[in-house]
Amino acid sequence: MKDLKFGVLFLLVTYLFSFPLVNYVSAQSDVEKKNGVLMSQLQLSHAGAKGDIKKRMENMKAIGAEMKRIGLIVRGRNPFDGSIVAAASERIVLNGRGAIGLFSKKNYERPSRASPKIWRDWEEFARSMNAMVRAATVLAEAGRAGNEKAVKSGYRALGKTCSGCHRKFRERKKRYP
Ligand code: HEC
Repeated sequence: MKDLKFGVLFLLVTYLFSFPLVNYVSAQSDVEKKNGVLMSQLQLSHAGAKGDIKKRMENMKAIGAEMKRIGLIVRGRNPFDGSIVAAASERIVLNGRGAIGLFSKKNYERPSRASPKIWRDWEEFARSMNAMVRAATVLAEAGRAGNEKAVKSGYRALGKTCSGCHRKFRERKKRYP
């Protein structure tokens, strides 16, 4: 009887703890996967951190181009097309997911405008990037649903995540004459 009680208790405890544990483990392996990709890229290019700076600037530039595409629709310059909004938002999601790995190495040499604060407050920086990815996911859904009103509010919400991070983690242009 006692053994049975312990057995049930053991199962219950394992069950309760399995969820966060599983999440933690999969998050870990995700990071490892990304690092694996990063490492092979570094080895291929032999360019070291310089290569990463270039890649992350290009990554952000691509995000900016997608945002511009959506902005033209939101402002009525281009006719409403939810599928264009969805596709552009999905590319922002993909770039956002890739961006965090490109910032993992501390480097803010010119011409990078990355602030050293990124590596002093990495948690906040990563949270900020995740917020962008989440907002872009919401916007993609609004586009897929063809919901013009939701696209407008989703675009504004996404824009706030850009400016929020830039204010805190991107240096002003004038630092580099
Ligand atoms: C978590 C932080 C973060 C978020 C969120 C973020 N950015 Fe950035 N962005 C940066 C940093 C840091 C740089 C500077 C990178 C560098 O120069 O190394 C940058 C640079 C840029 C640049 C200049 C790229 C170039 O040509 O050098 C553009 C354009 C840009 N971001 C657009 C966006 C847009 C649009 C969004 C939102 C959809 C966004 N960013 C969201 C951190 C962020």
